Amino acid sequence: MTELSVSILSADLANLAAETADSMVCGADMVHFDVMDGHFVPNITYGAPVLKCLHAALPEVYYDVHLMISDPARYAADFARAGASLITFHLEAVPDTAEEVIAAIRAAGCQVGISIRPGTPVEAVFPYLGVVDLILVMSVEPGFGGQKFIPTTPTRIAAICAERTRRGCDTLIEVDGGINTETGPLCIAAGADWLVAGSSLFHAMDPAAVVNVLHSK
Ligand code: DX5
Ligand code: ZN
Repeated sequence: MTELSVSILSADLANLAAETADSMVCGADMVHFDVMDGHFVPNITYGAPVLKCLHAALPEVYYDVHLMISDPARYAADFARAGASLITFHLEAVPDTAEEVIAAIRAAGCQVGISIRPGTPVEAVFPYLGVVDLILVMSVEPGFGGQKFIPTTPTRIAAICAERTRRGCDTLIEVDGGINTETGPLCIAAGADWLVAGSSLFHAMDPAAVVNVLHSK
């Protein structure tokens, strides 16, 4: 069974807690919290104070925090204190200090994920299989919601999945960007465990029907 992480980037942020709660009622398994710093990516979203408020409003939710920022080690403890369950950082942001970032996130008490942009070879994450809890494969260039799914993504997921099998480890594979009822099943077939969906859920006439497709049996 795949799990669905709802990206609240496409929510009405003036009604964030209510819209998040509605998504959970529709069947989402967790919340995907996109943090952008205007430096690692050309956009700025929200930070730990917003997560803290959302966590206070919905304390039972699992918070899947995706840091698209240049200095993830510096902010890991802030997000952990604010309620993050898992913190994912980008390998491209810290190519020489990934081990230190992993240690900082673990020391803060959270699970750890590593993400790669669409142009980064998948082999870059192979050394981290069995080391981190999750690999996040970007299926759009990070920075904005509502983009079109990059069609080479399922092949990239399958390659990481094959290497995971070869190593005999259970690191989860998540995919993020342009996931809808057409692209989601392709990622599930390729071996993805968690799917992130934002605009396809928040703009749907029937979000529960979308959730139903994005949950494989
Ligand atoms: C993109 C973000 C994604 C995005 C997904 O940089 O990391 O999580 O919000 O949104 P949709 O599902 O609209 O592509
Ligand atoms: Zn994301």
